[in-house]
Amino acid sequence: MSAENTSANYHHKSLVIGLFGFGVVGEGLYKVLNQTPSLKATIKKVCIKNAGKPRQAPAELFTTARDVLLNDPEINVIVEVIDDSVAAFEIVKTAFKNGKHVVSASKKMIAEHLEELLQLQQETGQSFLYESSACASIPVIRNLEEYYDNDLLHSIRAIVNGSTNYILTKMFEDKLSYRDALIQAQQLGFAESNPKLDVEGYDAVNKWTFLLTHAYGIITNPLELLFTGIQNVNAFDAQVAGEKGRVIRLVAQAKKLGNGKVAAAVLPQFITQDDHLSFVRNEYNGVVIESGFADKQFFYGKGAGSFPTASAVLSDISALRYDYKYEY
Ligand code: HSE
Repeated sequence: MSAENTSANYHHKSLVIGLFGFGVVGEGLYKVLNQTPSLKATIKKVCIKNAGKPRQAPAELFTTARDVLLNDPEINVIVEVIDDSVAAFEIVKTAFKNGKHVVSASKKMIAEHLEELLQLQQETGQSFLYESSACASIPVIRNLEEYYDNDLLHSIRAIVNGSTNYILTKMFEDKLSYRDALIQAQQLGFAESNPKLDVEGYDAVNKWTFLLTHAYGIITNPLELLFTGIQNVNAFDAQVAGEKGRVIRLVAQAKKLGNGKVAAAVLPQFITQDDHLSFVRNEYNGVVIESGFADKQFFYGKGAGSFPTASAVLSDISALRYDYKYEY
């Protein structure tokens, strides 16, 4: 065994985190890390937009100056969970250039800039992990990337937005009004700060854009995909679905065609009750994958909310230990 392989040398560096954002996900991560003492990762500083808000964490942890985190040589991981995709892109690019690994939950930014980000990541030799950005607690990116062979992946159908699934479930099972269901989704921390992004399908198509990259190696732009949200789904649709013994779900789908191309879209659909996606209720997400040898598989878990999303961020932070031999 060489000296490099002794356990003393293997655990040589701690994970020191600079966290951007202390909303539903950021605060969730702070709590989750406090309950996971076995993971030797410390949040050194949190960058927030509004210093005035009361927060359940020591005041000295917070700053509004992004460079305090980005220029701190001790911080080796930037965790970025803000909902401003323009600011997020600048933060991530600077973090790479400053030699820091990045864990991100910014769906819109990743959908719009994945190619450039992957290139920069490779040039700078940093890690870029974003498991929390699609389907929250379901490790869908890791599975698509590591388990399946593109050639054998026949199709994927998925529910990737928790808020719209919550609204559809509450409207059609509990007879809540659209407005009340949306308010609940907002109060529970599932919806985007601009809920139009959920309801009109933007959030789902953003996630679908980069999931297609991990499934089929396709680099595309969200606006090149056919999509619509649940904004036009109404009581009449619910009645028709009920009469046919079906449920309505916002489904993202992709299928490999005979000519090797992939057809993809995000649309509300009537779903039969023997379809795995019909079991996906409330803020849960689900992914049905059909592939050559594995046949059909179904992944299921919470797709929105503080702890389920923070758990995926935690798994990315944890993954860095193995990739970069940080202390644990
Ligand atoms: N607004 C998103 C959703 C949050 O409802 O799925 C999780 O990405």
